[in-house]
Amino acid sequence: EIVDKGGFPHYMLKEVYDIPSCLVNSYTSLMEKYLSLAAMIVYGAKNIYVIGNGTSLHAGLISYYYFSEVGINANVVSAAEFPYYALQNISTGSVIIAISQSGETSDVIRSIKMAKQRGAVIVGVTNSVGSRLALESNIYLPITAGPELAVPATKTFTSTLVVLRTLSLYTGLNSGKKDRKDLEAFEKDLEELSKQIYTSLPQIEKQAEDAISKVEKDSLYITSSGINFPVALEGALKFKEAALAHAEGIQLGELLHGPIALTNKGYPIIIIKPSEEQAFDLYNKVVKSLSDRGSPIISVSPEGSVKSVETSRDLSPIANVVPLQLMAYKLGVKRGLPIDTPQGLVKAVVS
Ligand code: AGP
Repeated sequence: EIVDKGGFPHYMLKEVYDIPSCLVNSYTSLMEKYLSLAAMIVYGAKNIYVIGNGTSLHAGLISYYYFSEVGINANVVSAAEFPYYALQNISTGSVIIAISQSGETSDVIRSIKMAKQRGAVIVGVTNSVGSRLALESNIYLPITAGPELAVPATKTFTSTLVVLRTLSLYTGLNSGKKDRKDLEAFEKDLEELSKQIYTSLPQIEKQAEDAISKVEKDSLYITSSGINFPVALEGALKFKEAALAHAEGIQLGELLHGPIALTNKGYPIIIIKPSEEQAFDLYNKVVKSLSDRGSPIISVSPEGSVKSVETSRDLSPIANVVPLQLMAYKLGVKRGLPIDTPQGLVKAVVS
């Protein structure tokens, strides 16, 4: 597919700049009748598995928090692992929410085929209308982020979150945990977030570049808690792909159980401020321990050294991932790497 870079040096940067318009597009492209049907299927499920790989798996991990809030327990499993321990729990009445931006990832396709044979209903979430996932699903929800050409996924992640949050809100209508007003509030928050990201992007890009200029080491931690923990995992994946740097996503509380041993003056750590108030004490405690150890801290929050846009808890993963995507991108640029096509990687792992 030929897509202009729109004056940007790399597709990855262009695709980050596409995020604000994609967020709204993805929401408005969802059709009420399919959402309602998918929500009814999810609500009526005997058990639910959310599967995907890489970035799509990280979006799935965030959906755990979305579904949990509406009283639904979703098991989130890598599509590469699903056949080994989750498949045995699949039978008639099971529902698989399968996420794949390409819709062609073989782990996902293999897993849904096996699950279908055991009687599961498949709800597909994909950015590719004619893909194998779209064709194999009983019902599918489009991501509608437009073509994404950089191997490091950016806008498909944020748009997938819009789809999953909307599905969870519709499921909440069934469980009685949400009402139409919540949907309207979500729509308003999403529009506002899209506008705010649009206007803040040049500033975030600059702050990301400044923050990353201090990273000399080939290894760093990214940490957070609650709904933003999977964002730390996603940020770490972006550093690996775009900057060929080792980055590890760790839960804030888990840092204290061993990993903090590596932190010192030379070991950078990116901290995403959690959105859940219950985690603030832990956050302050960890920031203090790290400061005492002299670790260079890059904070991501509306008040941080790299500022994310202020928004609701459910949309905070979208707001927080943008600075991480841009930091990974800037480190890749600093290192002169082929960011859009990292050596040895492909956009979709199809075999
Ligand atoms: C993301 O930056 C990666 N390129 C990769 O982890 C990707 O998310 C994974 O291979 C799954 O791809 P899919 O969403 O097309 O199934």
